Amino acid sequence: MSKEKKVSKPEKFQAPRGVHDILPEEHAYFTVIKKVVRHRARQAGFRRISTPVFELKNLFTRGVGEQTDIVEKELYTFATKKDGDEYALRPEGTAGIVRAYIQHGMNQLPQPVELYYIEPFFRHDRPQKGRYRQFHQFGFEVIGEPDPGIDAQIIQLAATIHEDLGIADKLKLQINTIGCPKCREKFSNQLRDYFIGKERSLCANCVRRLAENPLRILDCKNEDCRILAENAPKFENVICEDCKDHHQKVLELLDAVDIKYTENPQLVRGLDYYARTVFEFWNESDGAQNSVGGGGRYDGLVEQLGGTATAACGYAGGVERIIELMQDSRMLAPDKDQIDIFVAQLGFGAKKVALQILTELRGRGVHALGALGKASMKDQLGKADKFGVKYALILGEVEVREGKIILRDMASGVQEVIPIGKAVEKVIKKIGEKNLDRYDPSGELKKDTTVRPEEELLIRD
Ligand code: HAM
Repeated sequence: MSKEKKVSKPEKFQAPRGVHDILPEEHAYFTVIKKVVRHRARQAGFRRISTPVFELKNLFTRGVGEQTDIVEKELYTFATKKDGDEYALRPEGTAGIVRAYIQHGMNQLPQPVELYYIEPFFRHDRPQKGRYRQFHQFGFEVIGEPDPGIDAQIIQLAATIHEDLGIADKLKLQINTIGCPKCREKFSNQLRDYFIGKERSLCANCVRRLAENPLRILDCKNEDCRILAENAPKFENVICEDCKDHHQKVLELLDAVDIKYTENPQLVRGLDYYARTVFEFWNESDGAQNSVGGGGRYDGLVEQLGGTATAACGYAGGVERIIELMQDSRMLAPDKDQIDIFVAQLGFGAKKVALQILTELRGRGVHALGALGKASMKDQLGKADKFGVKYALILGEVEVREGKIILRDMASGVQEVIPIGKAVEKVIKKIGEKNLDRYDPSGELKKDTTVRPEEELLIRD
């Protein structure tokens, strides 16, 4: 008797908790956001940068701040087996970009250097709606200019993007100044004096914050901490004249370009590198306060990461949160993947011609799909219907022999027989020139024909 082998079911894999697949429908939103960001960034003179998804852990410890939630609780870290160096998946973009600015001597370029990015980031956050462990941000960093005009320009850029994406009316800009390190030290001392003795009314996190960074208590969402924070000393009483002047100018410049804001003295942000201006765009539409983007000035970061003292300011928007808001606002992203025409065939000779026609159609900018398998004509046309195509080209061995092809209007079912050689032109006419998806990389790329010094030597020899 043969022993029956027990076949164990293969393990079913799921994406890890807190991370998600971006399926084609969601990609339609990603594509519009990327286009809008690229377009607005280029208009304002920004150039794109990508830094690695992982960096030495110390870059974030030193850059973002050892005692921030992002570094203390949310970093994904790993060490290499061979040399034991500790790395971290980047939780945000600013520290990596400042590292790149210093490493590539960008201080030698005309200042300020204006960079933008659209990238994935990683935080071991508690997963919930709008909070993921891998998420995307688009962001802008302007390094090398302390003027308040930069702060206002970045805020305006973000606001324009929200406008383009149809979500501006759902967002409220919150703005504050947290001053320079000197004002902050004074303020921290005052806050410490105020909260000491009130520890029993603070949450456990804030008791710790009291020792490490009392400013953070102002940002706590806990009800008791908030009530206590309301009567805490006010920053406006300690802010120095320069920081006050900077803040006033940012507000005046925002007024000049008609950007509405709410001054929020409670806003401190969760990253340690900020100085002076901090801001967030809040979506309050679903009751809970939810920030879709934020940023501010970080004048000390370049020096802190080993460069010379250089002022800087930036912003990052959360792509997933913006998509959710676009969907809540019933904004539809255009489906650029719509198929224009389906080519159905029967028989090997017909398949060859179908492949030639598909190639020519695609080359001319038509989105063309072919059933190149062995499915019946009924199944092929059924598939064409599912893709919602307007037209189908149909050919079998008889048509190939006669040099003809059938063009079918899928909605009405009306068919006409046309010469194979005229099929592509006819389809293009039906679809309309303006609807073609034309992209010719060879028309964009140019060959460098200047003679390089080493080639010059060869020519002379
Ligand atoms: P942030 O406020 O930590 O700032 O993040 C910016 C935006 O990224 C948030 O407003 C939110 O929309 C999105 N985001 C953050 N964490 C998550 C998450 N777990 N899931 C989904 N979305 C998330 C920064 O990262 C700074 N680097 C911004 C900046 C640039 N400051 C100066 N330059």
